[in-house]
Amino acid sequence: MLTDDLKSVLYTEEQIAKRVSELGAELTRDYAGKNPLVIGILKGASVFTTDLIRYINTPMQLDFMVVSSYGSGTKTSGSVKIRKDTDTDMRERHVIICEDIIDSGVTMSNLFPLFSTRKPASLKLCALLSKPSRREVEIKIDYLGWEVPDEFLVGYGLDYAEHYRNLPCIGVLKPEIYS
Ligand code: IMP
Ligand code: MG
Repeated sequence: MLTDDLKSVLYTEEQIAKRVSELGAELTRDYAGKNPLVIGILKGASVFTTDLIRYINTPMQLDFMVVSSYGSGTKTSGSVKIRKDTDTDMRERHVIICEDIIDSGVTMSNLFPLFSTRKPASLKLCALLSKPSRREVEIKIDYLGWEVPDEFLVGYGLDYAEHYRNLPCIGVLKPEIYS
């Protein structure tokens, strides 16, 4: 079974659903009447983004961007590429960037200045997870699910070498699998 590759489960499917619903309620309050544009960063944030928007109870729009920085290893390469841009214009829009996990912060620190040049009405970051101990550049996370320890996590969209995204929980991958 896929879960046999986990050393431990950090968050169960039920815990995730509860926290994501709370984030959705916060966004509903903060963005009522603003028709926000939610941009999920693929592929990692695909599961989180599509769950989250079902808890946003005010009109909004959804778009995605494909960004890559990781290759198939477990550490960031430092260079960020936009492989697919949004279809929707960000100008004058209340933009919410949805990310799975903020690790070194390199990916978002590269993307945020670029987004700012597109003149959104506002620009906020919503991340399910953050590993503060790994930060190389400071990043302001406006909406955060949980702070997590410095371990390699998989599931709920997070992958190792493109696997484990389909796990409904978030777990710590057994180190022998990637070493
Ligand atoms: P950063 O640029 O170092 O902040 O990395 C952000 C990206 O790295 C995330 O969007 C993830 O795709 C990936 N990442 C960071 N930590 C993990 C992890 O523990 N498991 C899986 N992917 C991770
Ligand atoms: Mg990602």
